Amino acid sequence: MKKEIEISLTNRIFNLGNVQLLTTQYGDKKNVSTVAWITPLEKDPPLVVISLDKNSFSFELIDKSGEFALNTPTAEIINIVKKVGSVSGKEIDKFQEFNIPYSQGKFSKVPLLDNCIANVEFIVKSIVPLQTHAMVMGEARRAIVEEDLFSDHWLLEEKDIILIHHAGSNYFCTTKFLVEIKKL
Ligand SMILES: Cc1cc2nc3c(=O)[nH]c(=O)nc-3n(C[C@H](O)[C@H](O)[C@H](O)COP(=O)(O)O)c2cc1C
Repeated sequence: MKKEIEISLTNRIFNLGNVQLLTTQYGDKKNVSTVAWITPLEKDPPLVVISLDKNSFSFELIDKSGEFALNTPTAEIINIVKKVGSVSGKEIDKFQEFNIPYSQGKFSKVPLLDNCIANVEFIVKSIVPLQTHAMVMGEARRAIVEEDLFSDHWLLEEKDIILIHHAGSNYFCTTKFLVEIKKL
């Protein structure tokens, strides 16, 4: 079961730099894609920036709706991570095609992925166009995580969670170990 966490802890969901699934909705059009280029910027209010392809369907829906969500996948769904990051929602309904379960967001209208261990809803604070991409800065408004997998940080090895990182192309690596530095 997922629990809502204090909003100022949101950036700890993204600190490790693992890939996220980006969900978007505008009107009756919804979409899911993969993003690796994500950076937390501020703690309270929590700001996160994504570098997003301006030609993507995700960008179009974010630009129109002003909201999005980031969903944290584990290695169990690495095939979905690759699939939704390899085809555009302009061509297919990825939810239907890949049979992806979701629930409606509470803060936003954006779909939240049931098979991800965290879901964070954002409003768009600013969009800065670059060359092919744009910096999409969002402010987190609601964050839920699987209750036994996160205290004030990911409980990685205790709970056997494997997070996914993108090395480029078809190459991925994973995070599994947590090291605690004891206070001196
Ligand atoms: C592992 C992985 C990471 C990706 N990271 C990003 C990213 O950070 N920014 C981006 O614009 N596209 C990224 N992509 C590519 C998009 O997910 C891909 O272009 C997708 O088809 C866009 O779908 P859409 O048009 O439905 O939004 C990534 C793809 C994969 C597989």
